Amino acid sequence: MKIFRQPLHELITKKLHKAGLTEEHAAGVADVLVHADIRGIHSHGAMRVEYYAERIAKGGLNTKPDFEFNKTGPSTAIFDGDNGVGHVAAKLAMDEAIEMAREHGIAAVGVRRIGHSGALSYFVRQAAKSGMIGISMCQSDPMVVPFGGSEPYYGTNPIAFAAPSHDGRIMTLDMATTIQAWGKILHARSRHESIPDSWAVDKEGHSTTDPFKVNALLPIAGPKGYGLMMMVDVLSGILLGLPFGNKVSSMYHDLTEYRNLGQFHLVINPAFFTDPDMFKQHISDTMNDLNHIKPAPGFEQVLFPGQNNDLIQEQYEKNGIEMVDDIYEYLISDVVHRNQYDNKDPFAK
Ligand code: NAI
Repeated sequence: MKIFRQPLHELITKKLHKAGLTEEHAAGVADVLVHADIRGIHSHGAMRVEYYAERIAKGGLNTKPDFEFNKTGPSTAIFDGDNGVGHVAAKLAMDEAIEMAREHGIAAVGVRRIGHSGALSYFVRQAAKSGMIGISMCQSDPMVVPFGGSEPYYGTNPIAFAAPSHDGRIMTLDMATTIQAWGKILHARSRHESIPDSWAVDKEGHSTTDPFKVNALLPIAGPKGYGLMMMVDVLSGILLGLPFGNKVSSMYHDLTEYRNLGQFHLVINPAFFTDPDMFKQHISDTMNDLNHIKPAPGFEQVLFPGQNNDLIQEQYEKNGIEMVDDIYEYLISDVVHRNQYDNKDPFAK
């Protein structure tokens, strides 16, 4: 089925408010989830609402957090999320970072003690919409083997980057540091399909094509992706005094406990480095250059990072967002959650 942005936003807000969030926070989460769905990042859109609702109902998210913003230097700050919804804390922390970078050229804000914050492109695009470069990264639950290992240590630790152009388009990189998201394994399990042998490993560390034997995911590009995960964990975990590595809390293990996750925002104001109009013009030029590179066999056009999502968004804004029927049925129902996520060990037994 298809649904437009506004009604989807209203349904998500209503459901999360019913689950226990304030209306303001429910709407803040809906902003980030609708951003994901409308850009085709369905793994981080409305499909997450039922999980969040269950976590809220079981006390694993603080519904009345006391957010605290403390500047620790002219360009540095800590935003304490008090284990409220990560989406809202990360968004407010990015607003603060943008203002600091406007004045001082650069801002680094550590966001401590939050719940899951969704698709990171939302936050870096806030910076780009203000004429700045945004970088953000966050911890996630341990489900990835370090290069050469057979047990999970790091999470899928995503990294996002956005830069503004002269014509309103935004260069947007937003990626997990794993070859595939966990959701793709679950999808293959639900269809009893095999997976490519490059995605994941079994308990012994052998690559597997059987989604039911998966015990951990693999980093992108071997030791290089593993190194990026390490960097994300240092900046958004260790630097902020939070649990790190395989001590990071699990998404599904105990929904009654706060997650204490970390996220790290960096904002750079181009005006402190170069002529900001020329900067934006050169981002536009880069986008155009890339679009005119001769495509490889099998490709129609080279897209700049994020353009694939821009193209989906264009279609969805016009025709409505493609939505799985089950998710829509859940959103319009009176059910808040069905007790289906708690203590589900996602790995092979
Ligand atoms: P993906 O693999 O769909 O895309 C990765 C990047 O590749 C994107 O920047 C995309 O624009 C670009 N891309 C894809 N196709 C392209 C093409 N044809 N030409 C040019 N660029 C192209 O993303 P992934 O890794 O599956 O991540 C999905 C989402 O999951 C992200 O929003 C990420 O922030 C989120 N995430 C959030 C986590 C959390 O704990 N909050 C954990 C892990 C991921």
